[in-house]
Amino acid sequence: MAVDLLLGLQWGDEGKGKIVDVFTEKYDIIARFQGGPNAGHTLIFDGQKHVLHTIPSGIFHEDTKNLVGNGVVIDPVIFKKELENLDKFKTDYRKNLYISRKAHLILPTHRLLDAASEASKGKAKIGSTLKGIGPTYMDKTGRNGIRVGDLELENWKEKYRLLADKHESMIKFYDVDVQYNLDELEKEFFEAVELLKSLKFIDSEQYLQLAQESGKTILAEGAQGSLLDIDFGTYPFVTSSNTTAAGACTGLGVAPNKIGDAFGIFKAYTTRVGSGPFPTELFDEDGETMGRVGNEFGATTGRPRRCGWLDLVALRYAVQINGITQLIMMKGDVLSGFKTLKVCTAYKYKGEEITHLPFNIEPENVTPVYTEFSGWKEDLTKMTEASQLPSEFMEYVKFLEDELKTPISVISVGPDRKQTIHR
Ligand code: GDP
Ligand code: IMO
Ligand code: MG
Repeated sequence: MAVDLLLGLQWGDEGKGKIVDVFTEKYDIIARFQGGPNAGHTLIFDGQKHVLHTIPSGIFHEDTKNLVGNGVVIDPVIFKKELENLDKFKTDYRKNLYISRKAHLILPTHRLLDAASEASKGKAKIGSTLKGIGPTYMDKTGRNGIRVGDLELENWKEKYRLLADKHESMIKFYDVDVQYNLDELEKEFFEAVELLKSLKFIDSEQYLQLAQESGKTILAEGAQGSLLDIDFGTYPFVTSSNTTAAGACTGLGVAPNKIGDAFGIFKAYTTRVGSGPFPTELFDEDGETMGRVGNEFGATTGRPRRCGWLDLVALRYAVQINGITQLIMMKGDVLSGFKTLKVCTAYKYKGEEITHLPFNIEPENVTPVYTEFSGWKEDLTKMTEASQLPSEFMEYVKFLEDELKTPISVISVGPDRKQTIHR
């Protein structure tokens, strides 16, 4: 069987966790392929809210296996907290959770390095989640990292010590004020490593290969979004992994010709958390309304998310680089009550109107060109069928499908698992 992908097409927080949970009943395996605890994936069902950071969003389904792939970076301390949360809900993760031996570990000093790097940048900071993501991927590509499989070796603590000592000297190099007590951090870390070691470590590329051969259905769950991709995002204001379709190949060991559907998920408007350019960002009442009604606060850091109109220039780009076959539109319910809606269809760039994403989208380089739509008043959150959706809403949907040349097959009208309309 082919491996399907579910990818965020904007700057993250599109609602991936919710939709992976909804889709899980159709899949035998859910596999995370990149990112780490910078992600915050929210699932709501049976009146309960769950936020997952590293654990795949299929974990609440008893008959589904969940894999943390080789492309993911794992912080044992945060992972332990996630597992403890699952314990509270009596979710038997020991049966269904697998971890790739090739996944890299986030050490306490990676987090400190992230903080030092950000502090040294001052106003130019990335706005990182401070989870140590950048430094961990740097050690991965620098060939210094410690992997999950290393924990099965006797001498892994020696390797750890050498790396942590090196990190400490690097922190000094930054010459910024980062307060820490490494003994305490390490105590917590080594305890968490013991819990991690009690889980199932596997050679995940082999596991997925056999699963495909035996006809198992697999969904790869993306973290972050295409505009945060290390190559294709708004560099340097990006994360440190490939969040796009190709990331699933390297982050799981799945060959490109084994990819089936690529589901692209986007909000009916746009949000971004952290620094970096955002051409359609709003600083007015409309932006404030989106943030308030959409409850736009980071699931990992609690920071308010910046809000703005939908940007089709950026979305078209994301659809194209990912080879998206079906779209999933989230949070249309948040736009109920807006008299007029705007969609950015082109940018004014160096005196010209362009429809592709240029190298530089800083505000001084691009001005969005908008198409306006009449809004709708109806509350969408109780609607269960596409036929109930207001005509103005459907016009918006039809316009996006035409512009993106891709069908919108799922419409989400609220955070709950049940508030999902399949078309
Ligand atoms: P992820 O990182 O892509 O999984 O998304 P997050 O969980 O970080 O952010 C999405 C937020 O929107 C969460 O608070 C969800 O509960 C919420 N959400 C998801 N879908 C919808 C929807 O269709 N309507 C509304 N109003 N909220 C939604
Ligand atoms: P999910 O999976 C939204 C952003 C950070 C920052 C930049 C770099 O929930 O969609 P990092 O900690 O990765 O070095 O931060 O990327 N960022 C996210 N924004 N959703 C996410 O994940 C994000 N993960 C990282 O805010 O701007
Ligand atoms: Mg999120």
